[in-house]
Amino acid sequence: MAREKITYVSLFADESIHPMYEKALETVREKYLGRHYPIFIGQEEVVSEDGEFEERSPIDTSIVVGYFQRANVKHVRKAIDVAEEAFQKWSRTSWKSRVEIMRRAAEIIDQRKFEIAAIITFEVGKNRLEALAECWEAIDALKYYADLMEANNGYERELGPGGPGERCRMAARPYGVWFVISPFNFPFMLPNGMIQGALITGNTVVFKPTSEAPLAGLLLYQAFRDAGVPPGVINYLTGPGEVFEDEVTSNPKVAGIAFTGSRDVGMTLFRKFMTRQPYPKPIILEMGSKNPALVTAKADIKKAVMGVVRAAFGFCGQKCSATSRLYVHRSIMDKFLEELVKETSSLKVGDPRNRDVFMGPVVNRRALENYMLYVEQAKKSGGRVLYGGEVLRGDNYGRGFYVQPTIITGLPRSHEIWKKELFLPILLVDAFDTLEEAVREANDTEYGLTAGIFSEDEDEVRYFFENIEFGVTYANRRGGATTGAWPGAQTFVGWKASGATGKGIGGPHYLLTFLREQSRTVVVE
Ligand code: SIN
Repeated sequence: MAREKITYVSLFADESIHPMYEKALETVREKYLGRHYPIFIGQEEVVSEDGEFEERSPIDTSIVVGYFQRANVKHVRKAIDVAEEAFQKWSRTSWKSRVEIMRRAAEIIDQRKFEIAAIITFEVGKNRLEALAECWEAIDALKYYADLMEANNGYERELGPGGPGERCRMAARPYGVWFVISPFNFPFMLPNGMIQGALITGNTVVFKPTSEAPLAGLLLYQAFRDAGVPPGVINYLTGPGEVFEDEVTSNPKVAGIAFTGSRDVGMTLFRKFMTRQPYPKPIILEMGSKNPALVTAKADIKKAVMGVVRAAFGFCGQKCSATSRLYVHRSIMDKFLEELVKETSSLKVGDPRNRDVFMGPVVNRRALENYMLYVEQAKKSGGRVLYGGEVLRGDNYGRGFYVQPTIITGLPRSHEIWKKELFLPILLVDAFDTLEEAVREANDTEYGLTAGIFSEDEDEVRYFFENIEFGVTYANRRGGATTGAWPGAQTFVGWKASGATGKGIGGPHYLLTFLREQSRTVVVE
């Protein structure tokens, strides 16, 4: 029977998830936390001669999540060699078998979702609903792409007619070994999207998760292996990014890179990959943003406040899709800000293992220090902290990285903080007089990932869609002004500095970014 679509509303309404998630927190403590984990290259479990790194939880730094290998260049090379060898067979496996394996992976993740969600909470501090939603999103993505592969007949089709006697076909073929590099903010769902995109289309993968969340990455690796992805077709490496960068971009056996993360790292990979390889190769990048939301005089204020609060402060603003710039029509500014502050002050910040917590910690000490730095910079430059602005200390917060959701007004629009992606729960707000002006301001950024508007006026919404230069756009979204894209419903595509291909994950053209066309013509007399 088809499962009802999961949304935050249905998650909130489903009481049964809470005991299961709480039990999983205990199971994960016993089964996973504090252990030593190898890397996986082909059939082998490898321990690095360069030692391990320790991962601690941002919820409470006395919790050791685990010890992970510091892979070195030798391991990266070996994994690429193994993946290249495995490509010979995997790329010739029928796409129908690969589709079956991906559907099995979806089932396995469904069975393990509470443990995976608990691990996400321990590793990056995500609250239970967001952590579970991430697992469901991964499951839906696997199913969506399996369906899409079938609907497109494995991306093979007849073309033509060509010249006399010509029978023409188009086949889509994989490239080879893809290096997949994922960030901390969706440590399961984002690598799942990139890896399944590569695997279902017949490519092989060397996967390097972020060092902030290698355990969620390991569970993803295990789900694919247990579903039937053969050894060598997917490989799992951990360790500092710098070790990988040169090898990944220069090794001629790497056929493509799929990366989600910061703009700086993404652009470095892009530049190096373009110049160090013997010929152009595909690179899929998703590089964050500085996302605007607009609230016009014709907005439903309650809806807008909800949408903005969720999108700005959900997972501490550490989503590529988070709202970080807010433009409000001058005529409703005071009323809107009053409601916004009221709603924000009701958010519970604390240990995300607790059911009532909306905002857990930021991911690490560096993020906490950045938070203090940006708040100070904003204040010094004329910004007024309307709400928040403080690091939370004391009994309940002392061992983790907790900060207040923060609203700042009055910062000059030319200030650097209006341009820079902070990846923190800091929302900048300014007033506008005309929609044209607001859209112009919203577009005045190098980024172009997500943008939202609140207006009950169809003409205003149409104007926004036609003129906004962002890939994922929303109107009147109470659940998240700029957040919450779902596979098969919203293509998650970055324009400008937010992406490289113009084809988004979760959308109907994503798999084509892992495929190259082959035109096949047979002449029959
Ligand atoms: C993200 O990838 O950062 C978030 C996805 C979303 O909220 O739409």
